Amino acid sequence: MIKACVFDAYGTLFDVAAAARRAAAEPGGEALANVWPKLAETWRLKQLEYSWLRAVADDYVPFSQVTRDGLDYALEAHGLSDSGLRETLLNLYLHLDAYPEVPQMLADVKAAGYATAILSNGSMDMLGAAVESAGLTDLLDDVISVEDVQVFKPSGKVYALAEARMAASGDEIAFFSSNGWDVTHASRYGFNAVWVNRAKAPLDRVGKPPRAIIDDLNDLNALVAAF
Ligand code: LAC
Repeated sequence: MIKACVFDAYGTLFDVAAAARRAAAEPGGEALANVWPKLAETWRLKQLEYSWLRAVADDYVPFSQVTRDGLDYALEAHGLSDSGLRETLLNLYLHLDAYPEVPQMLADVKAAGYATAILSNGSMDMLGAAVESAGLTDLLDDVISVEDVQVFKPSGKVYALAEARMAASGDEIAFFSSNGWDVTHASRYGFNAVWVNRAKAPLDRVGKPPRAIIDDLNDLNALVAAF
């Protein structure tokens, strides 16, 4: 029986493309007008790549640093290196939009009696700011950062941290992520892993296939009750 619903943060609850999209719409953001989707994609890919490299190399730094490094690479790659733009994007990353269905979904999940939490690579300063600005503070029972184990997903140490903090075993946890590699490794670890495949991407060929695949976070209660 499921005790807790645990959610990845970036790309799952929070729209990570929102920072570049909003910066493009702000005064001074003209340089981003056509390029922001590509900038957002390169930023995200490098941010993740650096997190995995640092995990393999046993070279942990907070995700805020990994996020800055990924952005610096992306800005240079797209010919946009500009310190004002860099600060704007980093600041917007602390105030990302939640996807529209998220607040009601968390309220419904809590009303059904499940504990709710974030399990994220994000450092606590980043997660705290994003949770507060998206108005999710009262809807989450816990916000769990990899900071406590100093290694990034998909290390098993991170999924074990969620079990400890939620006082639940993997088979009592429903875990939701829009990152294919995160769900396949959470599934391999023993969570009831659900892939929120917003991008309609192919399934990653690592780990173990998830228990379910959904388009967005609407109507989770029936799915979780069936686990
Ligand atoms: C996170 C990234 C992987 O929130 O989306 O952990």
